[in-house]
Parts: sequence; C-alpha cells; structure tokens
Amino acid sequence: MTNVHDSEQKSVPADAAGDVHAAISAGRILPVVVLEDARAAEPLAEALTAGGLRSVEVTFRTDAAADAIRAMSARADLLVGAGTVLTPAQVDDAVEAGARFVVSPGFSPRVVAHCQELGVPVFPGAATATEIQFALDAGLDTVKFFPAEQLGGLAMIKALAAPFRSVRFIPTGGVNTGNLADYLAHPAVFAVGGTWMVAPDLLAAGRWDEVTRRTAAALAAARAV
Ligand code: 3PG
Repeated sequence: MTNVHDSEQKSVPADAAGDVHAAISAGRILPVVVLEDARAAEPLAEALTAGGLRSVEVTFRTDAAADAIRAMSARADLLVGAGTVLTPAQVDDAVEAGARFVVSPGFSPRVVAHCQELGVPVFPGAATATEIQFALDAGLDTVKFFPAEQLGGLAMIKALAAPFRSVRFIPTGGVNTGNLADYLAHPAVFAVGGTWMVAPDLLAAGRWDEVTRRTAAALAAARAV
C-alpha cells in the first residue's frame, strides 16, 4: 500500500494492510472500546493483552479517544485502530495519535478516500448491497457490518455473501460470546467486533480482571470454531 502521508504527520508503516490483517485475523475478535477517561487506557491495554488480544478499536465517541489511542499504541504487542471515525479530520487525529487502522459505522466516501490517501487501512460500514458496491468501487474487500444483529445477523451476511463472493465482513452490534462462533464459522466473516468484553461498567469500575477473563473466553470461543 502506498504511503502518501503528509510528512508533518506520523508515517504509516509500508505494509500497513498486511500488519492489520495479521493482527486482527490472529484472534478474529475486535473489541470496540468507548473510554471516558484516557487514564484507563494503559490498564485496559494490559488487560486485553493479558487475555491474548493483539488488536483493539478505540472509538471517537468520547473526547478521550485520541489520548487513549496514543497511550495504547505505545505498546508493541497491541495494534490500535480508531473507530466511529466520521470525518476526514478525525482520520487525521486518529493517525496522528498512532491509530493503525480506521473503522466507520457507515460508508463515507470522504473518510475512505482520506484513509487511502494516507495509506491507512479502513473498514467502513456496509450494510446493504449498494453500500457494498460502493466499498468494492473504492477498492475495498473488507467491511464492517453494523448493527449486525438488528440487520438480520448471520442470515443477512449469508444473503449478501452470495453475490459478493470476495467480500469479508466484520459484524458488530449485538455480537457476544454466545453467538460469535456462529458468525465466525461463516467463511465470509473476517472477524467479529463488540463491546461485551470492554463493557462501559467494567471500564468505569476498573474491573480489569473481568476484561481479561471475557477477552480470553472470547478468544477461546473463536479458536474453537
Ligand atoms: C459498535 O460500534 O460496533 C457497536 O456499538 C458495538 O455494539 P455492541 O455494544 O452491541 O457490541
């Protein structure tokens, strides 16, 4: 992937797509983090890696996102991406903070184009055949499928995967330890995402052991597929 990144900003590694693919496909679980206080970022990163995770999505739903990404991406054993990225300016903030990939809930041509200019792997949301065609037109083959359960879950993914044989999905929204194996068993599913192992009440209370426990349980369930 070509890096045409502005020299004033952090550079993106030359094999950004390969690195991201490897880190996410290692566990096929992508925690979606909503952090209110960036001071929790370091213990959270420790808890996730202790549970065996190598990748995490930190959402721009709070003001703490950029600082949290900065703190977590200092670790060599964790690949940190930015989620809920809605604007090109947030792409810049995310990359400057150290994000190695970008996730959006929907398909924004501006966000996708800006990520591609910077050489940052991007997973936009695509929940309909039309949106998937936008993603394909943009040269992408992996999309977020959000909100997965509300959209029809695995049945919807199976239906969409029939015409779009090259597309891989990251279902997120209503995914948990109980249903992740069903999703991951389908060849069109690249990974699953969600908040269940990083639930806001766990983060607020600093229940890091429980984050580690849920993370390890999720990874074990994914490995058993
Ligand atoms: C997301 O942005 O991906 C969702 O908020 C995660 O959904 P969940 O809380 O149901 O896991």
